[in-house]
Amino acid sequence: MAEIIIVDSQEQAGDIYAHCVADLIESKPNAVLGLATGSSPLVAYERLAALIKERKLDVSGVQGFALDEYVGLDPEHPESYRSTINRTVTVPLGLNPQSVHVPNGDPAGLQTAGAAYDAAIEEAGGIDIQILGIGSDGHIGFNEPGSSLASGTRMKTLTEQTRIDNARFFDNDIEQVPVHCITQGIGTIMKARQLILLAFGKGKADAVAAAVEGGVSSLCPASALQFHPHATVIVDEEAASKL
Ligand code: GLP
Repeated sequence: MAEIIIVDSQEQAGDIYAHCVADLIESKPNAVLGLATGSSPLVAYERLAALIKERKLDVSGVQGFALDEYVGLDPEHPESYRSTINRTVTVPLGLNPQSVHVPNGDPAGLQTAGAAYDAAIEEAGGIDIQILGIGSDGHIGFNEPGSSLASGTRMKTLTEQTRIDNARFFDNDIEQVPVHCITQGIGTIMKARQLILLAFGKGKADAVAAAVEGGVSSLCPASALQFHPHATVIVDEEAASKL
């Protein structure tokens, strides 16, 4: 069972994440951070950036690994996860861009890109703290319902619901949202030493309830967290409303 923390605000959630990561970096300068896109982690990254400055932490040895990427979207596209992670994490935290990795969504290399990404994570020593959001259907990374709970990084097809949810980043035009993605598998995510899942708003209430109180099932990928030895779920009142 994951630890559940109900907070008053995204700022409070962000502070919890920021302190965990700042403490980690202080004790382990070559810390490996698991990074996520989406709106849920944004305040957490802002709080962490502020704390890094305040504590004058040296982040030159820190590495980052993003969860996922769209397939076939130019990495320079502003909504590629490469660009998003650069804008929301790498630059504000002052990380070395060479040390921040995002799965390669180039259609040409998809056969080998997943295994190569998992190998790179292993080589870095494994992820210390993985931040996660949750999709309205319970997905983590881009592991949609039905994804194997033991999966490694691989290509997946996005569900229509996720493409509808993400159309807001593409001029509200679902046609522009890529159909495929490459995502860390649930098995990959579960190897991280600590997981911190953030969820806010009533749109996440069903997914949070299924993840935390439902049975562990591939139909709710986030329910795998119930098997993780160090998982924390931080939610606001609205996201916690169906617990
Ligand atoms: C996308 C990302 C997920 C993220 C989810 C929820 O599908 N691939 O990693 O958790 O969106 O996003 P948000 O936090 O904006 O609700």
